Amino acid sequence: MQLVSDLSALRAQLAEWRAAGQRIALAPTMGNLHAGHLQLVKSAQKHADRVVVSIFVNPTQFGVNEDLDRYPRTLEADSQALEAIGADLIFHPDVDTMYPLGPGAVEVQVPGLDSILCGAHRPGHFTGVATVVTVLFNQVQPDVAVFGQKDYQQLAVIRRLARALHLPIEIIGEPTVREDDGLAMSSRNQYLTAGERALAPALYAQLCATAERLRAGERDFTALENEARQTLDARGFKTEYMTIASPDLTAPDTAMHHFALLVAARLGSARLIDNIEVSV
Ligand code: PAF
Repeated sequence: MQLVSDLSALRAQLAEWRAAGQRIALAPTMGNLHAGHLQLVKSAQKHADRVVVSIFVNPTQFGVNEDLDRYPRTLEADSQALEAIGADLIFHPDVDTMYPLGPGAVEVQVPGLDSILCGAHRPGHFTGVATVVTVLFNQVQPDVAVFGQKDYQQLAVIRRLARALHLPIEIIGEPTVREDDGLAMSSRNQYLTAGERALAPALYAQLCATAERLRAGERDFTALENEARQTLDARGFKTEYMTIASPDLTAPDTAMHHFALLVAARLGSARLIDNIEVSV
């Protein structure tokens, strides 16, 4: 496995693989890899001959008071984990390589989708994500790119981006990987104290409980959302949103058979998100 920070070295290797007729997959990450990330790589390996994993803590997707500075950077451990599962190349650029004209010189926006749910609580976040993913797509020009469904809204943003800009890249969403107690794996889980960590699985449990009520036929979405939010807040979460939506994140209607349930909540100094899809 190679570790490359330089764009011309990346391009030279990609050109060699392409000349050999090999399909290339990209798994974009911000590092601090856990089993969920490794699942993205394993999925990528099924869809391509070569897998590039990018590790870049993207400053443009963090708000001013967010965790950019304390976001865990663990390149050594990440490299070992990726080597062990047979990833081909880690692309680990610096900010100047990613943004040669400086962050913010050009921005990619996905209007509407970028300002609801997480976008309403993290202004500019999805512009940062859409911009960095566009940059990575242009640098790597992969045949396929793999993202986690845990970031449900991010996946929707990237799918729309790829369609709208006619990017010849297959976008694959990989199911969320969970701890044994149901907590969705996330690099931000390590911000939790022991007490908060014990409470954190209640987020997923609440999604499942609300899903059960939908399956049982309840369709007063606002009442279900409010009840779920109150339950979480009573347990110590500060819920930002708990939403029942259609799978494309538009408003649900009572005749629908497929729903997406999404939640974001603060627990101590961590901001946790989770979601599930429900068919009734
Ligand atoms: O999901 C993430 O880790 C990031 O948002 C991504 C897609 C790597 C862009 O920085």
